[in-house]
Amino acid sequence: MSATAAAPAIPEPDLAPVDAILAGYPQTETSLVQVLQDVNRTFNYLPCHALEKVAASLGVPLARVFSVATFYKAFSIKPRGKVIIRICTGTACHIRGAPLLVDEFVRHLGIRAGETTPDMGFTLETVNCVGACAMAPVVIAGPRHHGGLSPADVPDVIQGKSDDD
Ligand code: FES
Repeated sequence: MSATAAAPAIPEPDLAPVDAILAGYPQTETSLVQVLQDVNRTFNYLPCHALEKVAASLGVPLARVFSVATFYKAFSIKPRGKVIIRICTGTACHIRGAPLLVDEFVRHLGIRAGETTPDMGFTLETVNCVGACAMAPVVIAGPRHHGGLSPADVPDVIQGKSDDD
């Protein structure tokens, strides 16, 4: 796929887990943030129809649910993949080659920064300084932090390999 092509539509996931999550909380607005945290953790984002379900179940206006869903940085209303790859483009990382890493991830994954692969495997993001400038350039892939990367390391990062493997 060309990196400049429009991202394909990603289908809404099976929302059965949302019912299970809702069943674990009192059906009031006080449960809203915790429910959204669980839903976000389950899907890696907040599917639109899940928000409608949450609003109806907790008796909270949908506008209020969207307002909370978009207020907290930990929540995303855009689909995100199983593995979120965050490339630091802060000053230290930029100077030490972050733009080349971005280009290489874009080439390998076939998506641009801010997009998710159609199979929901990966989301690519660029972020500001993550506080590990001594390791620049830094990439965080899922739970793993990688430092001192070059474009040649990108396939290993995508395959989930680290320096310890
Ligand atoms: S600029 Fe990338 S970790 Fe600080």
